Amino acid sequence: METPTMKPDTVLILDYGSQYTHLITRRIRSLNVFSLVISGTSSLKSITSYNPRVVILSGGPHSVHALDAPSFPEGFIEWAESNGVSVLGICYGLQLIVQKLGGVVVEGESKEYGKMEIEVKGKSEIFGSESGGEKQMVWMSHGDEAVKLPEGFEVVAQSAQGAVAALESRKKKIYGLQYHPEVTHSPKGMETLRHFLFDVCGVSADWKMEDLMEEEIKVINKTVASDEHVICALSGGVDSTVAATLVHKAIGDRLHCIFVDNGLLRYKEQERVMDTFERDLHLPVTCVDASERFLSELKGVVDPETKRKIIGREFINIFDQFAQELEKKHGKKPAFLVQGTLYPDVIESCPPPGTDRTHSHTIKSHHNVGGLPKDMKLKLIEPLKLLFKDEVRELGRILNVPVGFLKRHPFPGPGLAVRVLGDVTQGNALEVLRQVDEIFIQSIRDAGLYDSIWQAFAVFLPVRSVGVQGDKRTHSHVVALRAVTSQDGMTADWFNFEHKFLDDVSRKICNSVQGVNRVVLDITSKPPSTIEWE
Ligand code: XMP
Repeated sequence: METPTMKPDTVLILDYGSQYTHLITRRIRSLNVFSLVISGTSSLKSITSYNPRVVILSGGPHSVHALDAPSFPEGFIEWAESNGVSVLGICYGLQLIVQKLGGVVVEGESKEYGKMEIEVKGKSEIFGSESGGEKQMVWMSHGDEAVKLPEGFEVVAQSAQGAVAALESRKKKIYGLQYHPEVTHSPKGMETLRHFLFDVCGVSADWKMEDLMEEEIKVINKTVASDEHVICALSGGVDSTVAATLVHKAIGDRLHCIFVDNGLLRYKEQERVMDTFERDLHLPVTCVDASERFLSELKGVVDPETKRKIIGREFINIFDQFAQELEKKHGKKPAFLVQGTLYPDVIESCPPPGTDRTHSHTIKSHHNVGGLPKDMKLKLIEPLKLLFKDEVRELGRILNVPVGFLKRHPFPGPGLAVRVLGDVTQGNALEVLRQVDEIFIQSIRDAGLYDSIWQAFAVFLPVRSVGVQGDKRTHSHVVALRAVTSQDGMTADWFNFEHKFLDDVSRKICNSVQGVNRVVLDITSKPPSTIEWE
């Protein structure tokens, strides 16, 4: 599917592999300016196709002297100059500008990493006329150093050690910062970025989620012909729900959604999500109860990887069947598939040059519930592919997806199968887990903690322990509770509950869930553990 037409005030970021590149995009978007990242070695044709107002060259781990040092294409600087496009180089980006335009970059004698004080010189555009003589702390990270500037450039800030901290050529509209303005360790960095974009480059702050939504709807309508059908698998999570709601707004009931109850859902999950889909969002959803089929395939299976594979395979079979039924009904094969791919997935799958990172699909494969059969030949519609998670929530709010739904904790595709250790069909493991999980989550909600926790859930352990309940000895199940804080699920810390809360939850569970006589708390961060247990 094509990308929506870009606004004239797009800030394009050429990525040279800095760990902060995405952060620059997010910071700029938070100023209501549209920003996108593309590879630092993109062709001039590709760069100009975005019609950017400003181009930022990111930092990166390379030295400009390395043989394979990534760079912008031939003709880029000339194109920017003749089209009034401002260029800002950050760290490696600054050094690229210096080297490519005839200055000299050498390996720095003392490498500068971490917090550092810089002093802004008299007059400069990038810091504004009032900042002359000002000292500020910034986050520096570089090995090489610009020692001779290209013609027409001047140093506008210096580090305490005398290194170039910022430079500019007002005539050429080219600027450079040797530090990271986008990180919070540079307390005045955002002010500098804001001043640069609005006052120096004249960018207007008019990018709104509503505009993006309207653009996406136009693109979807252009892509999907009026007699074509589209399918979407809903997981009950935020991304697929928002994506489907948006596509539904564009093409109405030519969208066909499917929600599969695989028997591994949480307490009353099917009723709860179907209620939101039908009552709140009026989405056309077919609910397939395939629990028996999934559970019979999973009987006796203990290995976690095999469990995931079986679940993935069964999902695909059901999906295939759904597509065939639609073909019979409408006389035409569905031609498109909606997916809730987000921007970080898109960026991650095309890593910047020289970073030694390969496509991330393999890293994430254990999180996918399975690919699609190749012969289905569906074309993808990915209406969220330019958005970060918090932006998807904002779009969801505009589309009237209930706020409570948008704030739901993530839930894994293989569902409770990754929360029952071992055979999911053992005894009444799934039933016990559903009840324990419901008590835990409800207690978290009652305590007003739900939104402070990134993900919380219970785990069923395949062991029994001795206990005493009433006057009898018991030999019952052990369950674990897990709650974590996190930014993005890549790393996580365990959530620190008050003892009173834990005491209450543990009593409630043992008193009301039959067959459980012990509750333990998971107090490991990720790494070394992961968030789920299997
Ligand atoms: P881990 O356990 O890998 O979890 O630290 C990170 C995040 O991913 C979710 N998760 C999954 N999601 N299929 C999914 O759709 C999976 O197989 C899967 N495994 C983990 C997990 O719930 C957490 O949000």
